[in-house]
Amino acid sequence: MSKLEEALEKANRLRNSAAIDDKSRKLDVFQNVEPRKIDNDYIVTLTRPDSPIAEEYRRLKSMLIRETKADFLNTIMITSSVNGEGKTLTAVNLAVTLAQEIDHTILLIDADLRKPMIHECLGIKYKYGLSDYLTQDIDISEVLIKTGIGNMVLLPAGRIVKNPVELLSSEKMKALIKELKQRYMDRYIIVDTPPILSCAEGIAIGSYMDGIVFVVREGQAQKKTIEDALSMIQELNILGLVFNNVSAANLDGHYSPYNYGYKHKEKQ
Ligand SMILES: Nc1ncnc2c1ncn2[C@@H]1O[C@H](COP(=O)(O)OP(=O)(O)OP(=O)(O)O)[C@@H](O)[C@H]1O
Ligand SMILES: [Mg+2]
Repeated sequence: MSKLEEALEKANRLRNSAAIDDKSRKLDVFQNVEPRKIDNDYIVTLTRPDSPIAEEYRRLKSMLIRETKADFLNTIMITSSVNGEGKTLTAVNLAVTLAQEIDHTILLIDADLRKPMIHECLGIKYKYGLSDYLTQDIDISEVLIKTGIGNMVLLPAGRIVKNPVELLSSEKMKALIKELKQRYMDRYIIVDTPPILSCAEGIAIGSYMDGIVFVVREGQAQKKTIEDALSMIQELNILGLVFNNVSAANLDGHYSPYNYGYKHKEKQ
């Protein structure tokens, strides 16, 4: 961070500090991780930022910003019908591209409490995460980890729990998202979740998110399965579909020679 950016950030903090109480001020206090090299080939936005696939993520990011900015739709859930469709990779790559471009904090939340993967993708070790925050008296600043990737902050999943649906539908969770959203008004909060059809968490979380990005990986789920999942979340605000690992022939006119495609929900 340059001296100027530091000074601006400090001024901003001072300006805000009069208006916020001690609790919400802690939303700006983070745990730091040691600098490390990320060598996970799937996090293409970091390992191969010049590749066509990274470019597709940047396109996805630009379209999302366009769709959401005017209405402050900044809490976005990534989900899919079944497992292994690329939700986590989409969530991480999207958060990275946002963090690379946008000056504000990007918060990435691993709300897949059954199979948390984001910390592994990013090579981050941590002490406490979301499930710990929701079940214990832990300060929020103890679970927000500064990743060192732009202004990207990770709220990792935490220890495995027996009652993820209950925790993720709890008032404490809703209050946390509300607080984070108010605090990060013009910043994005990206939430990775388990699949809609096999776990109830997705629908619970979706009910308090501003928008949903739905990932479909070619060959992973049957058409009927995808339709079933989409019908379960039809009341929610589906911002668009990401076609992951799709062959050009199946992109429905949205030709892309690359691995990723994105299609907006058609406006009614
Ligand atoms: N575009 C792709 N090209 C090649 N492999 C891919 C692609 N997308 C996903 N995969 C493979 O699928 C695996 C699962 O991806 P990811 O963890 O993002 O899926 P997920 O939807 O989060 O799965 P889960 O439902 O288990 O959480 C990756 O580790 C990778 O091996
Ligand atoms: Mg996942």
